[in-house]
Amino acid sequence: MSRKYAIIGVGHVGAAIAFSLVIQGFADELILIDKNEKKARAEQLDLQDATARLSSRPKIKIQDYSELSDTDILFVTAGNIHALDNASGNRWAEFEYTREIVKDIAPKIKASGFNGVLIDTMNPCDAITQYLQKEIGLPGSQVLGTGTFLDTARMQRVVSEKFNVDPKNVSGFVYGEHGESQFVAWSTVGVNGLPIKTLVPKMNLDLDALEDTARSGGWAVHSGKGYTSFAIATCAIKLSRAVLDDAQLMCPCSSYNVKYDSYVGQPGIIGKNGVEELIDIPLPAKEEEKLAASAATIKEKFATM
Ligand code: 2OP
Repeated sequence: MSRKYAIIGVGHVGAAIAFSLVIQGFADELILIDKNEKKARAEQLDLQDATARLSSRPKIKIQDYSELSDTDILFVTAGNIHALDNASGNRWAEFEYTREIVKDIAPKIKASGFNGVLIDTMNPCDAITQYLQKEIGLPGSQVLGTGTFLDTARMQRVVSEKFNVDPKNVSGFVYGEHGESQFVAWSTVGVNGLPIKTLVPKMNLDLDALEDTARSGGWAVHSGKGYTSFAIATCAIKLSRAVLDDAQLMCPCSSYNVKYDSYVGQPGIIGKNGVEELIDIPLPAKEEEKLAASAATIKEKFATM
């Protein structure tokens, strides 16, 4: 089966996704679209030059929305990091800017007849993803955001460092907004299969401090290099692989929650149709309240789009 990917926005994140897809041999075809045609052309050439040293030889094309009609996976990564308010560390600072970008992009995606799975990384991720779903009109299952998949990776890293284990040995989820109102659902977190709550006294853990470190993880990166790219690109690619492999991967991402009438980060099952199912893990009342509050924050802002 031929695997066709497209990326709208080949800035830091889009380019990291493109490079990773190409060097791992995941893409048979790759379409790059950017408002800066020179940049799209440069990334195309740079990737094509790499193929002489790779075992795969993807077809890389640029700037053609009509190519989306038979694209399997579309990454939307056209956010602009210079709009980020680094001091406050709040992704809503990008909203004014990114909502204008998606207002331009969404009708073009719709007109292309795209009918694959769209994975959005733009910030504020939950609101932008919901907007894309609404405007393009694809089923909610086919439009998802990386959301708290990235924050969950940060939580896994932060916890794994305390226990000196592989981050993959840390299970559990960050829920809510890919933003300041996110929270670690500690009731879901385990290390090597043991609930973290049972390990707190022995390991002298400060869960609030760990949560703060995970939440601010993006800013720790951003303040040093001016953007984040590798972790978000890896999360986006993992989601896309779960779709193309019909992996039935359980992981958090941003998708529509009927109860809160909003896109929000929560665990779901990712397979060939996108988010095939949401997993409604019973949370303790305090965590459920945090999820409701986080979803309400997103809903309120989304209403202003
Ligand atoms: C991140 O968390 C800034 O949303 C971006 O890496």
